[in-house]
Amino acid sequence: MNIIELKSETYSVHIAAGASTLLQSYIQSRPATSRSFILVDSNTGKHCLPRLVAAVPALSNVTVITLQAGEANKHLASVEGVIGVLLSQGADRHSLLVNLGGGLITDLGGLSASLFMRGIDFVNLPTSLLGMVDAAVGGKTGVNFSGNKNSIGLFSNPSKVIVDLNYLESLPEREFRSGVSEVIKHQLISGEIGKTNWQAVPWSQFDWATLIAQSIAFKQNVVASDFQDHHLRKILNFGHTVGHALETYSLTTGLSPLLHGEAVALGMQLELVLSHHLTELDEKLLKDYLRLIQGVFPELSFNMFDHSWMNHLQTDKKNQDREIRCVLLEGLGKVRVDVPIAEADIHKALQYLVVNSIN
Ligand SMILES: NC(=O)c1ccc[n+]([C@@H]2O[C@H](COP(=O)([O-])OP(=O)(O)OC[C@H]3O[C@@H](n4cnc5c(N)ncnc54)[C@H](O)[C@@H]3O)[C@@H](O)[C@H]2O)c1
Ligand SMILES: [Zn+2]
Repeated sequence: MNIIELKSETYSVHIAAGASTLLQSYIQSRPATSRSFILVDSNTGKHCLPRLVAAVPALSNVTVITLQAGEANKHLASVEGVIGVLLSQGADRHSLLVNLGGGLITDLGGLSASLFMRGIDFVNLPTSLLGMVDAAVGGKTGVNFSGNKNSIGLFSNPSKVIVDLNYLESLPEREFRSGVSEVIKHQLISGEIGKTNWQAVPWSQFDWATLIAQSIAFKQNVVASDFQDHHLRKILNFGHTVGHALETYSLTTGLSPLLHGEAVALGMQLELVLSHHLTELDEKLLKDYLRLIQGVFPELSFNMFDHSWMNHLQTDKKNQDREIRCVLLEGLGKVRVDVPIAEADIHKALQYLVVNSIN
């Protein structure tokens, strides 16, 4: 097996098809008294758990904690449920929690493990593309509270992250594309965009291990210089001011909810236009990037919504003094954070998208 290993000061990330087997030696290297627990959701329990247990004999008789799939279950009551099982099944300070799932499981499992007995070790085995390139790395854990996304949480690193590409086989196509949106975001802000031909080549022919590794390595580098999200880490929010507003709007109206990556794909389009209008991003690059994103998400456009989605812009947690602030792209790999945006700028950018949309 050709395993890509990314080492950071705190933990390492291993990437390969079949990489789950690495967990066997990791568990065996832990004290003999350490017991393991697995956290899954109802989908990863069905599709990914059998593969994990087959690859890691040390996990064949351990307690499996299963949450209902879905963002609606990402709340404190689920954390209490996880901790309740850990306690009732005899977990102690030396126990290990194995998080097997998408961002829901790695965020919620990471938080539960970090709170239980003031913190036990956890490993992340992301099973969604979004989890692999984003949620499972970077050390943010959390749950939603009273309608506010990730408003309760901790910075807490896993002991190890194992990215086993085989889990992607059962991931629904729509979820997969949602993850591609974050890969494109990393490529846009790192200046790596253009090296992957998202339209011309069938995705099955891509070297996903390398693509995912590049995406993770980029995020790790950004996080390493700003673990607690004071300045540089904000660049990772490109597309997210508008994206979060659309996501919240689509969840609170009768519309069928947008997936996170879909909302970010639209958010990046609008924020790219803002970048052209308010910074130096030239129109040729703008049009190339818009075509790229619209090609991957042909079914999405701002025509799907009425303008009330904009009411959610002000509540974004990144904004100061209820001002709208965005991360903008000044050029290839050149990013400016905390740019104040007026509502008129948004209207103008929307107008541009209506005229320049290929969808
Ligand atoms: N901590 C961070 O830095 C960070 C970054 C980005 C996103 N997030 C969080 O991550 C979450 C979104 O992540 P997500 O898109 O992975 O959501 P998710 O965990 O809800 O997974 C999406 C869906 O895919 C299913 N699924 C996952 N892997 C599967 C597989 N291999 N086969 C079949 N079904 C599978 C899940 O059951 C779920 O229905 C959000 O809660 C978001 O807040 C956190
Ligand atoms: Zn995101």
